[in-house]
Formats: sequence, structure tokens, C-alpha cells
Amino acid sequence: MQHEFDLDPGVIYLNHAAVAPWPTRTARAVVDFAQQNRRFGAWHYPRWLRVEARLRKHLAVLIGAPSVDDIALLKNTSEALSVIAAGLDWRAGDNVVSFSGEFPSNRIVWEALTRQGVELRLADIGAIDPEAELIACCDADTRLVSVSSVQYASGLRVDIERIGEYCNARGILLCVDAIQSLGALPFDARAIGADFVVADGHKWMLGPEGLALFYSRSAARDMLSLHQFGWHMVEQVGGFDRSEWQPADSARRFECGSPNMLAIHALEASLSLLLEVGMAKVAEHIADRTQAMLDHIDRRGFALLSPRRPSRRSGIVTFHVPRTDSQRLYDALMQQGVVCACRGGGVRFSPHFHTSLDGIEEAFGQIDRILLTGQSNRSS
Ligand SMILES: Cc1ncc(COP(=O)(O)O)c(C=O)c1O
Repeated sequence: MQHEFDLDPGVIYLNHAAVAPWPTRTARAVVDFAQQNRRFGAWHYPRWLRVEARLRKHLAVLIGAPSVDDIALLKNTSEALSVIAAGLDWRAGDNVVSFSGEFPSNRIVWEALTRQGVELRLADIGAIDPEAELIACCDADTRLVSVSSVQYASGLRVDIERIGEYCNARGILLCVDAIQSLGALPFDARAIGADFVVADGHKWMLGPEGLALFYSRSAARDMLSLHQFGWHMVEQVGGFDRSEWQPADSARRFECGSPNMLAIHALEASLSLLLEVGMAKVAEHIADRTQAMLDHIDRRGFALLSPRRPSRRSGIVTFHVPRTDSQRLYDALMQQGVVCACRGGGVRFSPHFHTSLDGIEEAFGQIDRILLTGQSNRSS
């Protein structure tokens, strides 16, 4: 599958937890789509609709959704979370439970509900047993638990099955921000008992920014009142002369107008690659790469800020170099073409299945050189 990736030789890409580089077939799909638009406009729109249908199928397979009818295509993760927050019929005194340290999208949206008397409770993600902490925060007034399946800064993999079992037994809705899992790790929305799953496609799914999955279980979907309306969200889509309408039975009811066909072509291509490789194999390759990183970190005596236990690991490895300013180290790495991030008090590396082990070795070699030359502003 190496021919599917064509990164510049000057780049070591360790930032899939932020925005991923596109596979070759994805870039080609975008170029082809541009050419079609240039030459024929939307003459072949029916073909585009088939690509859109394939994308919905890929997404349903990727998350183990019972039906493509459970999949809506929205702009981004934040929009999908907002559809849930705005759609539920909150009562003053209700609470939402989440973790401390979640990505801001999965906090701000719930904090905004305080105007309606809804409380946001945050369980300590740094606890030895964070799931038990989260469960302890729940009570009879908990309407929703909203957590990321993998934490964006540390890469901690949350035991979502355990949380799902608890929530399902008590009628608490479960919303999973799966953006740091989907495309990196196998995922099964049904086994988890998730009511909602949200994720933009530009990280591990190797797609463009601006096109997100919004999965809703049909019973949960019916709990959401609608706040966006248009021609595309009605049951009789295309019946432009009809004066009567009702929202689509399917999750399409959340898609008010014209779809983002350009991004649909790109993400469809990216997911076709991941599904061809198979998520079990993708996850295995990522695990090999994160293990290699842990070895480099341990050999050098750096401080690992990510979990060490394999069951808790993901594609994210965050570390701190003693007596070194992480921001300066990150800046120096970026200058050398090691594309990474500065998160959670350290440097965050996030390789994908196609990342070469040589590239990882070279990235750590760059760190050694940066430390030797003092570029990262070692403080005493
Ligand atoms: C856990 C998590 N949720 C959401 C996002 C991004 O949200 P959006 O798709 O709205 O840009 C990120 C991006 O870093 C993230 O790590």
C-alpha cells in the first residue's frame, strides 16, 4: 500500500491526530471531480450520488452501524455535537457527564446548556480508573454521557464498552466523539451501545476537513428536535413541487441542504483504502509503530505522558523531554519537517499504518540533534 502515499521526502508525518495527509487515490478522486465539474458541470450527478451512497456504506461498515439510514453527513464533529445538544429536550436539573481534558468541542457545547439549567459534570481523566470516576458522577438526573473514545492529548483509550453497559442499563444516552479512533482502531457502535457517534474525517480516516460522520441509533434520533430545515432533509427528497413534507425517517433529516460533494468524493476514496487494508491490520500496524516510539522514548529517558498498557494505547504518543521546553522542541521539529503537535504538556506524535519505522527512527534522531545543538532552549 506504500504507493498510496506519496509524501515529500523531506517530510516525516506524525500528525494524523490533527490533520492527515491524503492517500494518492484521494488526491486523484479530487482532481477527477474537479475535471468533471470543469468539463461537464453536474451532468453526471447520478454518478456522484452513487459515490455518496458508497461513502455512507463505508461509514456504516467502519462503525458497525446496523443501517446506512443511521448515518448523516454533517460539516464537522462540533456541528454534530451541537445537533445533539440543541435537539434534546432538556429540563432544568438535568446533568451531562464527561471527562476533564476533553477536546473543547466536547465541553463547550455542554457548558452552553447551563443557560437551560443543565449541569456539566467532569470526571477526572487522570484517575487510576477514569471510567469508575465517570460512573460515580452519574445519578438519576444524568441524561447524557459524552466522551471521546480516545483522548486527544494523551491518547488514552477509554473503555467505552464499560461506560456503554452502565449507560444502557440506566437509560442514559451515550454520545461518543470517535474522531481519534475511527480509521485507527476497530469500532463497533452496536457493541458499545452508543446512541450517537460523531467524527470528522480529516484525521485517522485520511479525508479532507469539513465532512463528518453523525451516527444516531434510530430511537435516539427520534429524541432530537430539528433546528435546521431545507429541501434535503425531507422524506420525499426531490419532490420540489410538493407542499406537504415531513422529515426523513433516516438520519438524512439532519442534512438540510446540498451535500459537500467534493469532500464526499475524497472521503469515499480514503475509506475505500482503509477498508481494503482492513481495520484489524491498520490497528496492528499502528500498534507496532507506537511500540517503536515507546522504545525510543524509554531508551532516551524521556517522560511518557501517554498510557503504557497496550489496552489503553491508541495511535497517539505524547512525551516530554526533561529540562526541555516542549513548545520549542515542537517548533524545532516542525522546522526539520517532522510534522507533529504540541499537546497536553508534551510533544505529540501520531503515526498511521503507512508510517515507516525508519521515519520514526529519523524523527527521534532529529530530537537528538536538536537537543545536542541546543535549539530547543534547554532550561536548567
Ligand atoms: C477529540 C476531538 N474532537 C473533535 C475535534 C475536532 O472537531 P471538529 O471536527 O469540529 O473540527 C478534535 C480535533 O482535534 C478532537 O481531537
